[in-house]
Amino acid sequence: MSERRVIGSELLEQARQRGRIVFEVMPGDIVTAMATETAQRLGIALLDGPIEKPAHPVTDGATALRRGLYRRGAKWIAPARQQNRQVKRFGKIAVVGAGGVGANIAHLAANNDIADEIALIDISPGMAEAIALDLNHTSGITRTKTTVTGSTDMAQVAGAAVVIVTAGRARSPGMTRADLIGVNKRIIHSVGEVLKVQVPNAIVIVVTNPLDEMTVEMLQVTGFPRERVLGMAGTLDSSRFRASLAKAASVTTADVEAIALGSHGDEMVPVTSLARIKGRAIHELLSPVQIEACVKDAITGGGQVVALKKSGSATIAPAHSSVELLDHIRGAKCGSVPVSVMLNGEFGLNNVVLGVPASIGMSGLLEVEQMPLTDHELQLLASAADSIRQRLGPQ
Ligand code: NAI
Ligand code: 2OP
Repeated sequence: MSERRVIGSELLEQARQRGRIVFEVMPGDIVTAMATETAQRLGIALLDGPIEKPAHPVTDGATALRRGLYRRGAKWIAPARQQNRQVKRFGKIAVVGAGGVGANIAHLAANNDIADEIALIDISPGMAEAIALDLNHTSGITRTKTTVTGSTDMAQVAGAAVVIVTAGRARSPGMTRADLIGVNKRIIHSVGEVLKVQVPNAIVIVVTNPLDEMTVEMLQVTGFPRERVLGMAGTLDSSRFRASLAKAASVTTADVEAIALGSHGDEMVPVTSLARIKGRAIHELLSPVQIEACVKDAITGGGQVVALKKSGSATIAPAHSSVELLDHIRGAKCGSVPVSVMLNGEFGLNNVVLGVPASIGMSGLLEVEQMPLTDHELQLLASAADSIRQRLGPQ
């Protein structure tokens, strides 16, 4: 129990100077007669305590990230506040490629009940159908309303608001993502040709590697505007970067705000200048050697999983990272999210797909957010762009 206080005029005058118009009088406190008069004179209400306090505002991860990242950006202007934000439920979404990543995306999306229908499509007979059946068998426990369908028929994408493309070969040990360009380009083209006809207004999220290059291919084959062809990698790379920073600082990832931009590969740009641990710049808590190790960890995270698995690549974190984009699209999460998009002059770059912070919604890309990067980080982004252009060759 707190100590009894004698509340005099002076205490109330100090409270008024601090802008308070309510003063909490706890059981046992003594209020002097003079203090009662002072309260009346100053317009302070003396209320019997304990007064019920409002709950702490709950801020989602994306808002916290943006607050942390933009804290020092003098030129940054806050985007207009979203009024009456409504979380939407998709009628139908489609996932092309029902392998490791596709099946996990369908699992998470069905479990989170974010769509009436999830259409899973895979070229391998029985694959999508089996996963769909397996997932529908869970609904007796999860009681979610989502129905999952499985098929080899690409026409089943019809009616989907968002199509996530995971179709393609995954890496084996020793392979870089770039080694997949030839085989996966053909797959992206065959899938994109169908999307152009069956879902001309859908948002396409590309997951297939090499991510930035395959997003360029998808843009070209569909002819869709840049707003509706998004590449997923930044959410995954940022998550890996945060996990690594948290481990190095012995905190939980909830205490870490950090983002990774650039390409989904060796030219990734984990942004150290704006990363925060418990709101403090990371160099206040970690040594340069530790920070460098975290950057390397984020860049090599995918390869580490490949080396351990020996066949195939990561599937669970990539699925969560894809559903993160779905959640931003439907308004369940707000604020900035890293996503690979065609750049039109942002960060001084043109005509290249690169991971950048952006806001996205039901129409796809809303805006690329200009984050206050250091000159060195801007140079790294520019050289990532050069490498992607080189790998794609003359277009
Ligand atoms: P996986 O091999 O388990 O699944 C790929 C599936 O695509 C297979 O079931 C295959 O039958 C199917 N497929 C192939 N051609 C198709 C076509 N034309 N139409 C429909 N389905 C087709 O591979 P996993 O692990 O699911 O990875 C998929 C892709 O995603 C790979 O290219 C991988 O490198 C990439 N990836 C990208 C990540 C990112 O952050 N962007 C993260 C993890 C994986
Ligand atoms: C990953 O980063 C293979 O791109 C995939 O895990």
